[in-house]
Amino acid sequence: MPDIKCIGISTGGGDAPGLNAVIRAVVKTAILKYGWKVIGIPDGYDGLIYPERSRELTLTDVSGILPRGGTVLGTTNRGNPFHFKSSENGHEVIKDISGQVMYNAKNLGIDALVTIGGDGSMRIALDFAEKGMKLVGVPKTIDNDLCATEVTFGFGTAVSTATDAIDKLHTTAESHHRVMVVEVMGRDAGWIAIEAGVAGGAHIILIPEIPFTIQKVCDQVAMREKYGKRFTIVVVAEGIKLPPEMKHMTRAIPVGNMIGDAIMLLSHRDVRVSVLGHIQRGGSPTPYDRVLATRFGVAAVDLIARGEFGKMVRLHNGCITSADISEAIGKMKAVDPNGELVRTARAIGISFGD
Ligand code: F6P
Repeated sequence: MPDIKCIGISTGGGDAPGLNAVIRAVVKTAILKYGWKVIGIPDGYDGLIYPERSRELTLTDVSGILPRGGTVLGTTNRGNPFHFKSSENGHEVIKDISGQVMYNAKNLGIDALVTIGGDGSMRIALDFAEKGMKLVGVPKTIDNDLCATEVTFGFGTAVSTATDAIDKLHTTAESHHRVMVVEVMGRDAGWIAIEAGVAGGAHIILIPEIPFTIQKVCDQVAMREKYGKRFTIVVVAEGIKLPPEMKHMTRAIPVGNMIGDAIMLLSHRDVRVSVLGHIQRGGSPTPYDRVLATRFGVAAVDLIARGEFGKMVRLHNGCITSADISEAIGKMKAVDPNGELVRTARAIGISFGD
């Protein structure tokens, strides 16, 4: 067992509902099970670049944070200490300040670090691990697109938020006989779109994994009308690849608006667009996400106690296990276009615009 007296904890990258549940679980496990001290590092690695911002986290500090969205530590998706941007004589310079970060962590008394983040944060973690920092990772993204883990916390909450929005759009779409386009998150994968689309009874779901055409989308709208359904709900993942007929368009406006405009132009229907955006990242985590986040937090501290550094916790076959960060990063989990979820959606008449 390694000689640990104090651990640090940081949250990096986009926030996700459940981050506070992980923080709480880490602090409680470290203090109650192992008798360690915990230092909260604010805003990703910023609290190690500017160590005066870091401070001890006690049981009192994590009391009441379980149901809260966001992260009490704050987060950032900038500030990679290996490529740190600063300004010298009015010019931007990029420096490697990782050595300073390692020194600051040691000075704060941190023997090992729990770093919670997505793929980008895990890459930085790996670089630190290779430099000798003792750390473990906790995977995080609402997009649920990490291969290493079956599910990430925050995903279920985001799906629930998006489903609620689709439910609400149904009634107004039906009343006004409109096509309603809903853009949901999913930079590279269509997990939120397909799960919220199926859960919310959408009629068309557009995801990055399945090429589509606007003609096919409009055909589906027309077919529904033939059966007396004068409204259509289209769920669009933000990461869709534009079809050839839209390739000339710039992506300066949300992709949902582009799809809405294209449907309106081709079908001459009344179309409205809702871009859900960061609403999906907020709010109180669902019970499932709270439990998963708590399991991840406890398991991360247990990894440190066993001296299993350079690993990250994950959900595998329903159990919490771990994987080497080096093997876990860079592997994206996409929706399988021929998988059971897509086949289920198709079976109940949902179109993917293909
Ligand atoms: O990766 C999670 C995610 O929510 C993506 O779905 C989205 O594209 C991105 O973060 C948005 O990040 P930002 O907070 O930088 O706008």
